[in-house]
Amino acid sequence: MTTPEPTIHELFSLKEKVAFISGATGYLGSAMARALAEAGANVVVSSRSQERGDEFAATLPVEGNQQHYAVVMDQKDEVSIKSAFASACELAGKVDVLFNNGTQGDGHDWNDVSYEQFVTQVENSAGYFVLGREFRNHIVERKTTGSLILIGSMYGVVASYPDAYEGVCNASPVGYHALKGGIIHMTRHLAAYWAQDGVRVNCLSPGPFPNFDIAPAEMIKRLETKNPMKRMGHPHELKGAAILLASEAGSYITGQNLLVDGGWTAW
Ligand SMILES: NC(=O)c1ccc[n+]([C@@H]2O[C@H](COP(=O)([O-])OP(=O)(O)OC[C@H]3O[C@@H](n4cnc5c(N)ncnc54)[C@H](OP(=O)(O)O)[C@@H]3O)[C@@H](O)[C@H]2O)c1
Repeated sequence: MTTPEPTIHELFSLKEKVAFISGATGYLGSAMARALAEAGANVVVSSRSQERGDEFAATLPVEGNQQHYAVVMDQKDEVSIKSAFASACELAGKVDVLFNNGTQGDGHDWNDVSYEQFVTQVENSAGYFVLGREFRNHIVERKTTGSLILIGSMYGVVASYPDAYEGVCNASPVGYHALKGGIIHMTRHLAAYWAQDGVRVNCLSPGPFPNFDIAPAEMIKRLETKNPMKRMGHPHELKGAAILLASEAGSYITGQNLLVDGGWTAW
């Protein structure tokens, strides 16, 4: 007997699933967390502050018996990562989808970044890995399948244009390029090892999504000229790609880096 073909609504639905997203209180994380809730998932958000996480979780949409939760996690601290994942499983019963999204930034560029500041940037990828491995072990224990999404960046694929920043602000940090390039390649490595465990691993790489409230207007103007679509991305423009990778709609996608960048990396 052949299995009936799932409908497109069934494929993109996250009903009965639990999704954990780190750094959910941020500019892009908040839009992706809303996407997960709107697709039907119970969402566990993490923040370094319980209060900030609780406040944000309370804003997520609820339909039927959906429930959202907040846990504290600092991805620079292995104990905090393991305890956050354990709390998520305890609160929500399980985790089916994990978004490693939060990043502790450091604005220094190649001119003046110190060794310690550089290490602080790339350390974020160790946090992504340790949390990702907790998730993989949890999926294996449950004998089920799961989707792990790491947030990369177009700056893990291409260099930045020096003239986009010169005289306005620091250039994009060299440590950030090392971090994001590493995350994209770690995606491929983990996807190859964890496919047999039922865990798909993909990277979602945003292009230029400056926060319009804080980014220098002149920098935005210059960045707009560097992109075929001649405009910056808005957080909701990541929602579709996030759910594609999280849901059964992406069931045969693993080891990929999906760039959502208005064509930035096309030329
Ligand atoms: N915006 C863009 O143009 C752009 C482009 C490409 C890629 N990205 C990537 O997209 C992701 C989200 O960026 P965003 O623009 O939304 O940044 P954001 O607004 O600064 O949010 C980042 C989040 O990371 C969390 N965070 C910071 N340090 C952390 C730590 N040590 N442990 C755990 N979480 C920590 C913060 O949450 P709490 O303070 O609540 O802990 C914060 O909400 C990042 O990975 C970023 O590199 C952004």
